[in-house]
Amino acid sequence: MAINYSEKSKKFHIFNDKISYIIQILDDNCLGNLYFGKHIHDKEDFSHLLQGGLRSLAVFHKENYYFMSPQYTKMEYPTYGTGDYRHPAVEIKQENGSRVVFFEYESYKIFKGKKKLMGLPATYVESEQEAETLEITLIDKLLEVHCILSYTIYKEYPVITRNARFINNGSENVILERALSASVDLPDADFELLTLSGAWSRERHIKTSKLQQGIQGVYSKCGASSAEHNPCVILKRPNTDESIGEAYGFSLVYSGNHMEQIEVDTNDLTRVLIGINPDTFEWPLNNGEEFQTPEAVMVYSDEGLNKMSQTFHKLYRTRLVRGIWRDKARPILINNWEATETNFTEEQILEIARTGKALGMELFVLDDGWFGKREDDKTSLGDWYVTNFKKLPDGINGLSQKIEALGMKFGLWFEPEMVNKDSDLYRAHPDWVLQAPGRSLSLSRNQYVLDFSRPEVVDHIYNMMERILDTAHISYVKWDMNRYISECYSNHKPASRQGMVFHEYILGVYSLYERLIEKFPDILFESCSSGGARFDPGMLYYAPQAWTSDDTDAVERLKIQYGTSYVYPLSSMGAHVSKVPNLQVGRTTPIETRGNVAQFGVFGYELNLNLLSEEEKTIVGKQVAFAKEHRELIHQGLFYRINSPFEEVGSWMVVSEDREKAIAAYYKLLSIPNEPWRRLYLKGLDKDKKYVINNDKSRVYYGDELMNAGMVIHKEDLCAGGGDFTSAVYFIKAVEKSFC
Ligand code: DGJ
Repeated sequence: MAINYSEKSKKFHIFNDKISYIIQILDDNCLGNLYFGKHIHDKEDFSHLLQGGLRSLAVFHKENYYFMSPQYTKMEYPTYGTGDYRHPAVEIKQENGSRVVFFEYESYKIFKGKKKLMGLPATYVESEQEAETLEITLIDKLLEVHCILSYTIYKEYPVITRNARFINNGSENVILERALSASVDLPDADFELLTLSGAWSRERHIKTSKLQQGIQGVYSKCGASSAEHNPCVILKRPNTDESIGEAYGFSLVYSGNHMEQIEVDTNDLTRVLIGINPDTFEWPLNNGEEFQTPEAVMVYSDEGLNKMSQTFHKLYRTRLVRGIWRDKARPILINNWEATETNFTEEQILEIARTGKALGMELFVLDDGWFGKREDDKTSLGDWYVTNFKKLPDGINGLSQKIEALGMKFGLWFEPEMVNKDSDLYRAHPDWVLQAPGRSLSLSRNQYVLDFSRPEVVDHIYNMMERILDTAHISYVKWDMNRYISECYSNHKPASRQGMVFHEYILGVYSLYERLIEKFPDILFESCSSGGARFDPGMLYYAPQAWTSDDTDAVERLKIQYGTSYVYPLSSMGAHVSKVPNLQVGRTTPIETRGNVAQFGVFGYELNLNLLSEEEKTIVGKQVAFAKEHRELIHQGLFYRINSPFEEVGSWMVVSEDREKAIAAYYKLLSIPNEPWRRLYLKGLDKDKKYVINNDKSRVYYGDELMNAGMVIHKEDLCAGGGDFTSAVYFIKAVEKSFC
């Protein structure tokens, strides 16, 4: 790993043994981009990679400088107004109304390690030897506004993380109207764009399209990263599949409004822009003030999509997730939501917990409905204390002690950012909600959004949460967010600061998380947003796991978890077995298959265990034992997608890094008559090792046999008679070479 600067050729080469990223200071003193991709040898000069020349209509920055027009050059951090007519990475409105800026190179710094991002989530290093960082300072000389572009390369990963920081050292008050985290110009457009898009209950489905000239991409404007579009885009070559070919992944460590835009110009250059959505964003930057963009993570793979995903998984699992839960086995939980919703008695809760304990579960999570007068979703959000002692006679403290006395840990649900009109909090502070003056206030699930851009609101919620977390025995918190933001306006800010509110809101969320995890470092946080509407890298910095989707149907979950795995590790995906017929799709799937899908995530249950038959309970007991035995392998192993559940059958597997153990799963979707023979071609094994399957020592297979010739799937392998929605899980273990 190194970052080299050549004074002579004015190029920066950021590289490790896997990737290279090359930047050039152009003759007009702007930054151009020369290369991003597979590692190439370092040398003095790469300027031959600059593509330029005199073209009609081209605009040039300097007299007699007819080579590099910004419109036809691969720019490093493009600006508005000086001849690059593609979309810029930054726009600054000035006092005289002009938006023209010209950022030119001023200086650079290279140092070991990686800095923290103030107030924002970001990947980190544990030792300075893990990464190296380049900071390039640009200046707009007229405004005296500086822009510091930061690039970190990790030694072990084909990853570069980026962010931009703006400092106004001039006397003029300017407004940042767009301040993106990264821009990358690629030299051609022969790519397919892959996004993780969907909706509530079908989050992160894989959408693929061929890049076209013009604009394409994804975004969110709802105040959360959203169920509709995850903050990432992947560009892959047309021939790239899971195991071969080039893929570039761009992921934003941010939980609010985002934009990932791909622009293909008419000369087939591809520009990737990623950052805070500029729509309605206006950040006043007065003298001496700074603005920090979120972090963008760029991953390159020349070994297909799966390798790209594995890179994201390891980086996010080990260098984004923090705290004691990063490496610790995650508890197998039972959550009461689908069993009772908000209507429960303490006795019902304890009954479920007792059965859970008997079946081996480790954590009971009390979901929505424990606070204030909450019997349905019309009341009490914002009142984070028990008032209904008929429901919880000894409050949360009493219940938590009773659960702990059973030998389980106790977890609790909150929705900290929200308030119902019918609540003590709203009655006391009706002006604490986001609300546009003179306009009616839109409801969603009967609730309003608290103005988390105001520190006093965040403080108040912190105090309520702190009180209960301090007094009761709480080991886990589920932090929900069940509506998007509308009428985004903060009552306590002047007109000139309203364009900051969306971003300040999410900074308020991050600050509350930060304070809570600092005060309660042992609590495991799980983020949630009507299921998976805020499943993003930003959240993972605070909450190591997220509720993947409200859709717990095994077939739908296969697709959701498969799509989510493009960027996020299995250790981040909350995955529960729930009741049938499924609440979202009405489908009945065998309990074995529900378990076999949920095992490939952070495993748990979400149903009334007391309504299960004895036979089902026996199956559940075995599932829990399996999860306990293998969760480390599942969460920390290398994940391989094999067959896409968006097609006929689904399959995937996890392999330990030493390739000694693996777990593979095969999911049959619909039965077809006279079904063809099926084989499962395993991946990631050691071709020279011998393996046994499900401890059956009567047959031994070489790794290459299992990967190249495949395993025959027998109908008897499948659960529940092998009909619709059945599945099989195989445990593969290496044996001594001498074993025959
Ligand atoms: C939405 C979540 O996704 C559910 O799991 C549950 O916690 C409900 N909210 C409770 O209101």
